[in-house]
Order: sequence, then structure tokens, then C-alpha cells
Amino acid sequence: EAAEKGGFEHFMLKEIYEQPKVIKDTMSCRIASDGEQIQFEELNWTPEDVKSIGKIMIVACGTAYHAGLLAKYFIEKLARIPVEVDIASEYRYRDPLTDSKTLCIVISQSGETIDTLAALKEAKRRGARSLAITNVVGSSVSREADQVVYTWAGPEIAVASTKAYTTQLVALLLLALYMGRLNGHLTADREAQVIRDLQRVPDQCRNIFDHAGDIKELAAKIKEKEDIFFIGRSMDYGLAMEGALKLKEISYIHAEAYAGGELKHGTLALIISGVPVIALATQQDVEEKMISNIKEVKARDAYVIGVVQEGDTEVRKTIDSVITIPRSDNFVLPIMTVIPLQLLAYYTAVVRGNDVDKPRNLAKSVTVE
Ligand code: G6P
Repeated sequence: EAAEKGGFEHFMLKEIYEQPKVIKDTMSCRIASDGEQIQFEELNWTPEDVKSIGKIMIVACGTAYHAGLLAKYFIEKLARIPVEVDIASEYRYRDPLTDSKTLCIVISQSGETIDTLAALKEAKRRGARSLAITNVVGSSVSREADQVVYTWAGPEIAVASTKAYTTQLVALLLLALYMGRLNGHLTADREAQVIRDLQRVPDQCRNIFDHAGDIKELAAKIKEKEDIFFIGRSMDYGLAMEGALKLKEISYIHAEAYAGGELKHGTLALIISGVPVIALATQQDVEEKMISNIKEVKARDAYVIGVVQEGDTEVRKTIDSVITIPRSDNFVLPIMTVIPLQLLAYYTAVVRGNDVDKPRNLAKSVTVE
């Protein structure tokens, strides 16, 4: 087992550090040689195929569901197709409005999650077209779906998903670009611009790893806390949910994610002196709104760790500690922003002495209801 860990103390850490490589593997086979366009040979869609989609229904569980939440932003903004995201176990039992104009996208690392597989069958029964995004070649969902896009993350051993999630984000962003070009909503320039920033991600991730020591120090600061809050807006809200899940599943600290704008509607009551708030503020278009949310929690004496883009000067003035993310396109940023959140969860679990790769009560793949 030590050999399989490749010199890392845990599979989770190894898998976090594999992200530059697997992100590259997942995208390079889908970027045309001129570097300007996305191509999915495995889909081979025509403009009509995309134009005939009335609605996209994304269905998944756990971390894969969180990837779906971000895909809603990618697809709606870049391809202007309405997207609904549902938890597989909810979708299957709610008599969903799904018909032949619906494209159902299921996301599953293992391809074996029972609720996701059942939801896929339900969508097909209602006449939907289907696409599986999965990491396991020949898995049940890959066999059940009409078409498959593989994430090339390689085997993921740690129960807490890391590299599978980032490759899901990559695959979904590429898909949004592909659909946006085919249905005419995305200009060639914009597509090329996002691709350029995507191609810089593997190198930029290494930049994040250079600051792993700072994140370890932050983990030591939060290790005794009982509640931790993650806040964010737009795509950073979806990431906040993933950051909170990662932290609770392996550190066993209660963590909750809130949309910045929802703070006043409940969570603010729980913000007392010293409570850590991880404020994700990488998205420029909502930066000012995030700053006012940060001020709201600072006024209650919260300890705020801000996650910002390199070069930011404004958010930095309002927070106690900072994690910086290399500069990139808004759509590309989430792929990098999650990495420090994974590291924070990892180091917090380690310092608390937990079994990082096999957290209590959890399984890698949930194949029974
Ligand atoms: C379990 C795992 C999670 C995973 C979820 C969905 O809960 O512990 O890490 O996100 O199942 O799994 P899937 O294989 O369908 O992506």
C-alpha cells in the first residue's frame, strides 16, 4: 500500500497532487490542435442536436452533485440552455418533468451509485436523451446512458473525492463551450479565450501547492472549532458547498455552506466571536456584494479566511487570513479554487488524528439504498 501511495502519507493527498496531470489528461484530448476549439469525438453532435435540447437535467449524488451545481452556471451562461440540477435520490421519487426534449446528464465518479443509476433509468423511461459523465470505463452508468464522456482522473481510492471532482468540472466546462459554439451562443473568440486559461491550469495548480504550508497553518487554527461556515456567491457558492462537504466528511467538524445573500436569513444568528468563516470571493462580478457579507460577519467578530484571486486588494482589507488563487477566467477559477479547500480539509483531518482515507460511516461508492 505504501508503494501505491507514491510517497504520500495518504491516498487523498496523492490524489490532490495528481490534479495537474489528470486535469490535463481530461482536457487535452478534447482541444483541437489549433487550441481554439473544443471537440468531443465521442459525442459528435451537430448544431441541430444541441438546438433541439429544450432543457438539461443534471442528476448526481454527493461531490458529483456539487460539480453539477457549477455546470448549471457553465451551461446556462455559455450555451444559454436552461439547466436544472437535482440530487438523484430526490429526482427519482418526485415524478419529474422530463420528456424527449430533455437531455439528462448524470455525473458519477464510480458509475455505480444506485440512486444515480436509477435516476438515469427513470429519465430514459420518460423519453430523455442521456449522457453519463463518469470516471470508470464500462461502469453501470456508462453502459446505461446513450452517450458517455469519461473523466480521465484514474483510480480514486480515498473516500473523499478530489481529483474526480476537478476533472468533472473540466469535462462539464468543455461541454458547455462545445454546446455554446454549436448552438451559436458563444463566439469563437470567447471559446478560445477560455481554452487558453484552461490550458494554464496544470501549471497554476503547482503554484497553489507552493502555499500548502500556509494552509496547514490555517488547519491548525481551526482544528478545535465546532462549527465552520463557508460563504460564496455564484460559482463560489457551489464551491462553498463542496468545501463544507470535504471538511465535514473527513475532519468531522460541523461545516455549512451559505450563499452570501442568505446570511441575513438565518446563519448570521450563529456567527459569534471566533467562529471561522471561509469567504470565497474569487468571482469579480459579485466581489462588492461579498465584501459586504464579509463585513457583516466581521462585525460579529468572526475569524474570516478569504479566498481571493491573486492581485486582489479590496477583499484583503476586510479579512483575517488569505488564500490566493492564480488569476484566471471566471469559469476556470473554480477548478483551482477547490484545491486549497481540499487541502484545508485534509490537513484539518490529519491534525485531528482521523482516518483520512477511510472516514467513519462513509463508503467510496453507495451501491445500496
Ligand atoms: C459517496 C462518496 C462521495 C461521492 C458520492 C457519489 O458518497 O463518498 O465521494 O461523491 O458517493 O459517488 P459517485 O461515484 O456517483 O460520484
